[in-house]
Amino acid sequence: MDVIDIIIAKRESRELTDRQIDWLIPAYTAGQVAEEQMSALAMAILLNGMNRREVSRWTEAMIGTGIRMDFSGLDRPTTDKHSTGGVGDKITLPLAPLVAACGAAVPQLSGRGLGHTGGTLDKLESIPGWRAQLSEAEMFGVLRETGAVVCAAGDGLAPADRKLYALRDVTGTVESIPLIASSIMSKKIAEGTGALVLDVKVGSGAFMKDLDRARELAETMVSLGTDHGVRTVALLTDMDTPLGLTAGNAIEVRESLEVLAGGGPADVVELTLALAREMLAGAGLDGVDPAEKLANGQAMDVWRRMVRAQGGDPDAALPVAREQQVLTAAASGTLTRLDALQVGVAAWRLGAGRARKEDPVQAGAGVVMHAKPGDAVRAGQPLLTLHTDTPERFEAAQAALEGAWRIEPADPQQPSTARTRSN
Ligand code: URA
Repeated sequence: MDVIDIIIAKRESRELTDRQIDWLIPAYTAGQVAEEQMSALAMAILLNGMNRREVSRWTEAMIGTGIRMDFSGLDRPTTDKHSTGGVGDKITLPLAPLVAACGAAVPQLSGRGLGHTGGTLDKLESIPGWRAQLSEAEMFGVLRETGAVVCAAGDGLAPADRKLYALRDVTGTVESIPLIASSIMSKKIAEGTGALVLDVKVGSGAFMKDLDRARELAETMVSLGTDHGVRTVALLTDMDTPLGLTAGNAIEVRESLEVLAGGGPADVVELTLALAREMLAGAGLDGVDPAEKLANGQAMDVWRRMVRAQGGDPDAALPVAREQQVLTAAASGTLTRLDALQVGVAAWRLGAGRARKEDPVQAGAGVVMHAKPGDAVRAGQPLLTLHTDTPERFEAAQAALEGAWRIEPADPQQPSTARTRSN
């Protein structure tokens, strides 16, 4: 098999054969295809696409380069959620214990933040003692004991994706729907969950800025999951405005605890419950009401067990940033816009996120929002509080927030929320 023939075929918009894909992916993973050749092919795929058969075969080949986890020994059905990433997206924190409290097992392999989007593991690591890195045996142990586990994916899961994603990251080839879909779904299918709910974010703070592309990504991932025997549905949810009132690490854990205690911001509660219902339906547990498990404290009980089982202290004080700066409203009126991307970049510049994979994050850093679009505000009232351990970062965060919000004298305008279901 000649890799140059494969590159030229895709350059000329021809379909790749099953044999070509089956050879290419393991050969690349084993180092027998040069990075520059894979890079050329990724660019040809970004420009000319892949059809459903090609994406499915590509995904299968990526899965085949690693292990497949098997949860069939558990006495509960497995169900999982994947978000394509956004600003203030702390949903996994209340969601995993909530769905476990409803009777399902939630094996949630999560990632770290990169750029302006936060990562679930960075948020959880602000809990003193909590460990993201678990062996496979430990992961099964926590899942069996508590019903939910949130941890880092081991190296054995779809190693082809690890290599290819790193290459795409530095060659301008991330934004290809077939490559994103196969990357996400190869890991989720290899993880072995029985059901999967995809939260595909759309808006300024998301990967997908427009609804049509988000829908195409959702449909591609749903068909990949379905083709591989995973009951998969997708929700398209708004990411023009940050989720909830916090974007950072420890401050998002605090907000998640409010949700688990039966309170919290309405948008976070609404999305947590919507995703929980879909996850439970996928697991065949649609008779259980997740709202009741939040209200009666059972979801909080699972959270506490889950944190403890991963070495964390659920009663420990969460880190607080050393310095705060308050930004106020210049006029009275209605807040009509608060841009997710700009808030995410500000949180990142304050130290909540990282520019390179190996950078550390500040547990206490981030942005607390005091108003959301639709709220009435008064001149001089706090709009945002910036948190950081390193006050020299305030200037860069303020620059990122230039023009991030709008206050209008007119009637409240509802924030746009696009939410459709695709399966
Ligand atoms: N997340 C992934 O895991 N892969 C992509 O390609 C994009 C986002």
